[in-house]
Amino acid sequence: MTATLPQTPGPIGVFDSGYGGLTILHGIRQLLPQYDYVFLGDNARAPYGPRSFDVVYEFTRQAVRKLFEMGCNLVILGCNTASAKALRTIQQNDLPHWDPQRRILGVIRPTAEVIGQLTKNRHVGLLATEGTVRSGSYELEIRKFWPDIRVTGVACPFWVPLVEYNEADSPGADYFVKKRIDELMAKDDAIDTIILGCTHYPILLPKILKYTRPGIRIVPQGEYVANSLQDYFARHPEMELKCTKGASCHYLTTENPERFKEGAQIFLHEQAKVEHIDLE
Ligand code: DGL
Repeated sequence: MTATLPQTPGPIGVFDSGYGGLTILHGIRQLLPQYDYVFLGDNARAPYGPRSFDVVYEFTRQAVRKLFEMGCNLVILGCNTASAKALRTIQQNDLPHWDPQRRILGVIRPTAEVIGQLTKNRHVGLLATEGTVRSGSYELEIRKFWPDIRVTGVACPFWVPLVEYNEADSPGADYFVKKRIDELMAKDDAIDTIILGCTHYPILLPKILKYTRPGIRIVPQGEYVANSLQDYFARHPEMELKCTKGASCHYLTTENPERFKEGAQIFLHEQAKVEHIDLE
């Protein structure tokens, strides 16, 4: 039986398959610290990157539903793979039945909106998971705002596990980072701006910078997603009023909480209270 959804103001939900969404949460909380937040990581089933459309859709649907049941009126998918493969379908198929007053936002559109202001020569590179690159979502969204931009994408298998297993600083990570950046530049040597189209990748930033030609701009998403949310609230004050302001943050994981805390160390900027949650 499906639980009824609470009809009172509540925290902002932020979801990711694993830890990556914490980079988005951090960006949002830097700019909008006054709100309450619930972060949900589906660590037990991460990574989503190589999974099929149906599976990513079903897992994401379960997570969003759970966050709604916990009182969130607004959920941010802090995951490009879920934004690419599940966001639209949930918005169109599920939300109207669950509660048309609630909202789900993704991370691809805010990045697409600003990218035309960041690239000078209109050659943009995309580093992301296999699922995001294959979905063509970035090309589609960027074309809506900036039809003159050429987007070249390369999938980076292993980058998410390197981060999830705390190997981002290890010498072994250099091989995988260099390999994908070389592959991207071989496809379009004129690229002047690279989107980190996976919320895990900012953790690999030092190595990404090490293997990228000087002058190429690297674009992590946290700041842009945060700006876009602030702008969204300005345009939708009715939704802003549905978000409580107690400056708190709760962390939920489908994995063991102790394991989450250990793995999340590099992402977390505070002592976190973490609870286990089941999704189905
Ligand atoms: N952090 C997710 C993203 O932004 C991907 C991680 C995964 O593959 O589960 O795409």
